[in-house]
Amino acid sequence: MSRASLGLLSLLVFLGGCGGDDDGGSESAKFPEKDWASEAAKLQEGPDWYRHALFYEVFVRSYQDSNGDGIGDLAGLTSKLDYLKELGIDAIWLMPIFPTPFKDSGYDISDYRGVNPDYGTLADFDALVAAAHERKIRVIMDLVLNHTSNQHAWFTESRSSKTNPKADWYVWSDTPSAPDNGCGTDSAVFGDSAWQLDPTRNQFYFHRFYPEQPDLNYENPEVVSATLDVARFWLDKGVDGFRCDVIGLLYESATECDLIPKTQAYIRELRKVVDEYPGRVLVAEPSNLTDATGYLGNGSDMFHMAFHFGYGYFWGFSFGGHDASAITDTFQKSLSQFPPGAQDALVIGSHDVPRAYSAAQGDDTRHRRAAAIQLSMKGTPFLYYGEELALRPGSEKVVDLRDYARTPMLWNADPGHGFTTGKPWLAFGQEADAFNVTAEDADPASMLSFYRDALALRRGRAVWGTGEMELLETGTKRVFAVYRSDDFMAYVSAVNMSEEAESVELTRPDLGSRAARVLGEGKLALRSGGGTLSLPGQGFGIFRVK
Ligand code: NOJ
Ligand code: CA
Repeated sequence: MSRASLGLLSLLVFLGGCGGDDDGGSESAKFPEKDWASEAAKLQEGPDWYRHALFYEVFVRSYQDSNGDGIGDLAGLTSKLDYLKELGIDAIWLMPIFPTPFKDSGYDISDYRGVNPDYGTLADFDALVAAAHERKIRVIMDLVLNHTSNQHAWFTESRSSKTNPKADWYVWSDTPSAPDNGCGTDSAVFGDSAWQLDPTRNQFYFHRFYPEQPDLNYENPEVVSATLDVARFWLDKGVDGFRCDVIGLLYESATECDLIPKTQAYIRELRKVVDEYPGRVLVAEPSNLTDATGYLGNGSDMFHMAFHFGYGYFWGFSFGGHDASAITDTFQKSLSQFPPGAQDALVIGSHDVPRAYSAAQGDDTRHRRAAAIQLSMKGTPFLYYGEELALRPGSEKVVDLRDYARTPMLWNADPGHGFTTGKPWLAFGQEADAFNVTAEDADPASMLSFYRDALALRRGRAVWGTGEMELLETGTKRVFAVYRSDDFMAYVSAVNMSEEAESVELTRPDLGSRAARVLGEGKLALRSGGGTLSLPGQGFGIFRVK
């Protein structure tokens, strides 16, 4: 061995290459590396791109205003694509951008083929998609098919009489109830009764959500073909797929309306339409909040991905509490029940729930721990805009209480925070001068810096999106740990739900002999047959091993 190689060897030993201990910072000395940027470029191509992608949900109205009217718009979003690219985002999900009376923040659509004039024009949309694609960022849209706005032309016609050509496009009844068609409930998700009297027609229409959101009647084949055509319209315009809003609720029956067989059949038709366009994808918003399995069909005939909410989206399990059972149960379920080829869509926040900052009760450590779960389990993470800043909640309500989690993005500490030169349509969230992109970029300890590091760690590494995942026995419900591996690399990712420091024994026979912590805190000491994992209270650690 030459002197130079000996020197290199002793350097490796010095950096920690000899033992099974992690000592942070020594990954490249201990493990083989690849050119991750070129690996990332490869993963972005091909039909499996979505399994390796990082998605980012955008509320266009709150992202960037380009014309000073205080309302975010498509041109504004286009101007921020470089920020998203630099953050490591591969795809954006646009909340509804269609014309709307805005009774449910755009989830009440009055024209499926247009753009909300507040946000711009179809030409602005085309420009956004083109600019995103130039940067290898895909664009998916919200597809809201369960209901329209009561201002949609279809409903205007349907409500005009009992005999018009669209009379049966919505769900009508002579009574505020329909024994053969009420899902076994007459209650709406928002408000009281799911039935609203229409004085013109002198009948009641069914609405699962606000009264301004009448449910379409999918028993009518014309509704089926009209809505599939809506999907075709946007696919023809080049969108890369859809997030399908409460798609399980399309069909009603006497007792059930959650993903009943007719709805499943519709979803299979929608999938066929999408499959006519290579590389396009569908992600489901399940109405079953703890089990997404039904949405995934046989793994290739329904959704490419489904949000799997159980580990902390609505209940904050991954943010707080002292027990990881709900997290374990959720991933156990995806591992044992999802059909082969199905992909989990991993979320810790969205426009429907309090922001991660609130779920973590203002404790950065808890937020980072939840993000660590989201980013290291098998699946495709969907970040919600502003999560990367730990955006604080707002206090103004324009539509409903969910506005607290929909406040404008904060780019800097100027009066309009770089969002607008005018008056923002919704007041900024709290502490806007301190927690914004510019301030957080300057602070290596900020949430944005944490997200930049965490997202960089996924870059080009196929193991996160498609590698194997195995839940590790830790001997306590307080510590949740998984082993992620593919042919090239392996990681142990672990979180401690306890307030106290924990040290646990991992007993998997082949965890490897080298460990390097790549994110978070704690220590992993490996030995033959397992290892000792130590994490600080509420902490997490991600360790490269083998
Ligand atoms: C689910 C959406 O995420 C939510 O924001 C909306 O209010 C309902 N669906 C109704 O469309
Ligand atoms: Ca604007």
